Amino acid sequence: MKVLGIIGAARKNGTVSSLTKKVLEGTQENGNLTELINLYDYDIQHCKGCWSCHTGKCTIDDDFEKVFIKIKEADIIILGSPVYWANISGIMKTFFDRHTVHMHNRFPDGRDLWKLPTREKIKKGRNALKKFGPMDREDFKKKQYILIVASTVPFKHIFGGRKEVVPTINALKRYINKLQGKLIGKLIYTDTLFRFFKKKRDKMMNKAFRLGKSLKKTP
Ligand SMILES: Cc1cc2nc3c(=O)[nH]c(=O)nc-3n(C[C@H](O)[C@H](O)[C@H](O)COP(=O)(O)O)c2cc1C
Repeated sequence: MKVLGIIGAARKNGTVSSLTKKVLEGTQENGNLTELINLYDYDIQHCKGCWSCHTGKCTIDDDFEKVFIKIKEADIIILGSPVYWANISGIMKTFFDRHTVHMHNRFPDGRDLWKLPTREKIKKGRNALKKFGPMDREDFKKKQYILIVASTVPFKHIFGGRKEVVPTINALKRYINKLQGKLIGKLIYTDTLFRFFKKKRDKMMNKAFRLGKSLKKTP
């Protein structure tokens, strides 16, 4: 089984990175293959919204496909993001946006679709779906996911910690749902400002290791 950690964290040795490494360490003990990717180490450019995705090919030539292939090959994917401005990190969002090319139905003349009357749009869309089939969604259905989120603000903070952490978790969940994957674990480390509280940190790291050790292939 292959377990892939994908993090979008500016701090290479920060909390998200450390927790992800611990999960991978745990699962290595069971003989599973592991790999860790920080999106900051890759050239992942913003989606241009040109809708070339309908042709099945993105016009941007960067590292996205390199990472995407790794996802395709993995059984379990760990998605790790710090809370940045009450949401996932920008690089993680950019990375998600770029999946559009693989998640849309193939439709070679789709760029001109908007010009057609609604009824024709629907007909053409249906025909294209029959002819070209859906994108790579099928490949993702059996994949399992783990979320890792870290925030400075405590979850129950008087100024609304919950409002910052929940949208971050939801953004990651949304990605998993879109790919029709299954969420099998979560590690949420809040109030990291107090990371000098060794007891809490140790507890989280142990939890991450145990989560890694518990990972099994679904039948
Ligand atoms: C650009 C930026 C934006 C941030 N925004 C938030 C925020 O909205 N809420 C919060 O609780 N923490 C915020 N933080 C703090 C990080 O979520 C927190 O320090 C987290 O532990 C960082 O994870 P890391 O150690 O893996 O880098 C922000 C940090 C940065 C750099």
